[in-house]
Amino acid sequence: MSNQIDSHASAEVAARVERRWAVLMVTLVCVLVAMTVFTGLHWAMMPPSRVETINPATLHVSGEFVESNLGSAVETDGSVTVRLIAQQYSFTPQCLVVPAGVPVTFRATSADVVHGFLITDTNLNSMVEPGYVSTFRTEFNQPADHLMPCHEYCGTGHQGMWAHVKVIDKDTFMKMATQAGNAGRLSCVK
Ligand code: CUA
Repeated sequence: MSNQIDSHASAEVAARVERRWAVLMVTLVCVLVAMTVFTGLHWAMMPPSRVETINPATLHVSGEFVESNLGSAVETDGSVTVRLIAQQYSFTPQCLVVPAGVPVTFRATSADVVHGFLITDTNLNSMVEPGYVSTFRTEFNQPADHLMPCHEYCGTGHQGMWAHVKVIDKDTFMKMATQAGNAGRLSCVK
């Protein structure tokens, strides 16, 4: 008799536990679906604030990224813009020169596949994609030499793809820029 009660009771316990797990799992699935729908709608309604596209096939022919326009340029507001191209397996220019204590804007694009942009000892870290212009602003505190390795696997020569970034004294930089003239684009490629 007591055995019968026991088995009846344990069957009830099992059913209750199973029900709880079922509710938990269904809830979990609903939450995941809701998250997917929410992020999908969120992205559709609020796309990245600015996307700048460019034709990778004509980079070298015309426009902002022609070879003579690559490197560091002083803007009228005193800030510096650095334009560069990433391609299998190098950056152009291979050595970037920027002043310390001045706002610097990097504008980079790729001529072929996805590359990485990273300046060691700084928080600059991005991807450089063909068809898009990647822009990042920063200010270097003090003169220093940094390495700039590609950190996205981009093919068999990936590990040999890197450039230098030389941060130099502001006055020296501005003097170099003045000497280079109006259309002067600075780099430290020798
Ligand atoms: Cu370019 Cu890895």
